Amino acid sequence: MLRLAIRVRRADAELVLAELLELVPSGVEEVALGDSVEYAVYGAPGELPALPALRAAVGAAIVEVSTREIPDDWAERWREFHRPLVLDGAITVRPPWEPPGTTPIDVVIDPGQAFGTGAHATTRLCLELLLELEPLAAGPLLDLGCGSGVLGIVAARLGWTPVVAVDYDPASVQATGANAEANGVRLDVLQLDLRIDPLPDTPTVVANLLSPLLITWASRIGPVPPRRVIASGILLGEVDAVGRAFAIAGLDVVARRVRGEWAAVLLDQAPRAR
Ligand SMILES: C[S@@+](CC[C@H](N)C(=O)[O-])C[C@H]1O[C@@H](n2cnc3c(N)ncnc32)[C@H](O)[C@@H]1O
Repeated sequence: MLRLAIRVRRADAELVLAELLELVPSGVEEVALGDSVEYAVYGAPGELPALPALRAAVGAAIVEVSTREIPDDWAERWREFHRPLVLDGAITVRPPWEPPGTTPIDVVIDPGQAFGTGAHATTRLCLELLLELEPLAAGPLLDLGCGSGVLGIVAARLGWTPVVAVDYDPASVQATGANAEANGVRLDVLQLDLRIDPLPDTPTVVANLLSPLLITWASRIGPVPPRRVIASGILLGEVDAVGRAFAIAGLDVVARRVRGEWAAVLLDQAPRAR
């Protein structure tokens, strides 16, 4: 097992993280080092991002790249990295090796090769907004860019039904199906590319994607937009651009949540689109 470490200037860190998560959707370890930040990725030789791809994505920001063999404590480190998330005393999202939570909703997520243990700020912001919508939970919901399926599975546990989960990555489709089964919920999991494929029509959508993808999707929304959308994965400086893209599609920002450099918004149909 190898550990690939990429050290970047702190000023560039948030943009680098966004790019790295595109290359390594299962997540990266973050270590603060004074005025720089180190992002580390673990994997077998051949599984890690290649240097040319890294340089193409974040080359200008790189201070140092290093690789080293990981000793036998690799499994323990991975477990340290994936900690349970407990939200508002209502929801626990935990990896399979952690004991069950004491909250009314206890969801087990095995991330496998897919993004999404619940712990990432962008996922957490979605979960917080989903909890705020709980009184409405009953209708159909689309988890767009489902990764490990964490958002769709929590939504199903909150009462949304039917829940459709979409991702273009076969590993995510596989992980979502397996995680839904492990949690005893039914999800329709579809392998679709939101940039080109027709998407299921649902009144409520939760989409934890990066801003460029959110904007692409917004530009594809038809004449009847979803009733409401939770959109996350937005860097603070990009909230206005994302808001403008959805406004054109007939959806207005009605709530915003922030965690560190990340924001998530709740969008609702603008009066003219209702
Ligand atoms: C930031 S992850 C979010 C995963 C999960 N929903 C969560 O909150 O933890 C974004 C997901 O979008 C998926 N994705 C990226 N581009 C996509 C596309 N063009 N079509 C469909 N899914 C896409 C990725 O494979 C990834 O699983």
